[in-house]
Amino acid sequence: MQKAWLYEEHGPKEVLKLEDIPIPSPKANQLLIRVHAAALNPFDVKLRWNLVACLDLPVVPGCDMAGVVVAKGGEVLKFDVGDEVYGSIHDFSAQDGLKWLGTLAEFIVVEEDLVATKPRNLSFEEAASLPLAIQTAIEGFRVADFRQGQSVFVVGGAGGVGTLVVQLAKHVYKASKVAATTSTKKVEFVKSLGADYVVDYTKIRYEEVVEKYDLVYDTIGDSRESCVVAKESAPVIDITWPPSNARARHSGLTVSGEILEKIRPCLENGKVKAVIDPKGPFPVWDVIRAFGYLETGRARGKIVISSFPFSWKNSSVGGFCNTVEDGGCPNKK
Ligand SMILES: NC(=O)c1ccc[n+]([C@@H]2O[C@H](COP(=O)([O-])OP(=O)(O)OC[C@H]3O[C@@H](n4cnc5c(N)ncnc54)[C@H](OP(=O)(O)O)[C@@H]3O)[C@@H](O)[C@H]2O)c1
Repeated sequence: MQKAWLYEEHGPKEVLKLEDIPIPSPKANQLLIRVHAAALNPFDVKLRWNLVACLDLPVVPGCDMAGVVVAKGGEVLKFDVGDEVYGSIHDFSAQDGLKWLGTLAEFIVVEEDLVATKPRNLSFEEAASLPLAIQTAIEGFRVADFRQGQSVFVVGGAGGVGTLVVQLAKHVYKASKVAATTSTKKVEFVKSLGADYVVDYTKIRYEEVVEKYDLVYDTIGDSRESCVVAKESAPVIDITWPPSNARARHSGLTVSGEILEKIRPCLENGKVKAVIDPKGPFPVWDVIRAFGYLETGRARGKIVISSFPFSWKNSSVGGFCNTVEDGGCPNKK
């Protein structure tokens, strides 16, 4: 058995419980991974409220993780036991791509094609912060057919996705100008990510932004208003569903280890940095508080959860123990 956070009914964060569940066995194309860090996403909240997908209960939340391969199926070719990997574990494009067992657990199974080798310079916490957000950020540039030398206006430059959109625009896609919106206290932070011009949305309205941009990349679902900053017939990307403006194109998410592998050089050479909210990483027994913080909508970068405490003795999975040993865990059995 292993420890995992799960819910057996939909609702507020208080439905989450720390429980013992079985450790799954990997299918032929899957890896069994010991989770060393996980990250939260607004998707996890929407799923818990039963707003985005049908999944039988109970559900262990969590899409993102970084960890170590502890066992693998017979058809796995790319990874071996002991490899450090990271990724988002749900394949949103597949009919049955959502898993009931998410990453707020000690062990998860995932198809080898969905994960990639952890960038060697990143901690597990940093790596876990990236997959869903960076794959979303990259997809928006692809949908917009964004080209080097174009300008971009990022709506919501301080969030989990926005911090990566700003960095990718400036340091990878080589935008001629990166503008981004945020609130007063985060202006310097968003500049530090590479924004040339930061709009404090508490003081300046979109209509007051003088310049027009080759792309408006909206990460907060404000495209009904933010589209006025786009040049005539320039693309407006909205990653929220449904976009609030008919002109905006929704950009979804492609989960693939290949995308993570392609961006790896930019992570390893420091062009793009993982941004962990300074309130974290949250200890794993503090998941409910971490969700409460995510749900304020004020996170700065990503909310990361550290791993379940772990002992290498008393193993039940190839030398791995499944007991929570830390005395700080309120639900310790
Ligand atoms: N299409 C997809 O596949 C996909 C993937 C990931 C996420 N999403 C969706 O995209 C949205 C954002 O996700 P996320 O993970 O980036 O969320 P997040 O990290 O929770 O976003 C929090 C950030 O939003 C900023 N913000 C809030 N209101 C703002 C406003 N009016 N103007 C500018 N910034 C504002 C906050 O900055 P301030 O404190 O400065 O306001 C905060 O830093 C969510 O709705 C999520 O469900 C979609």
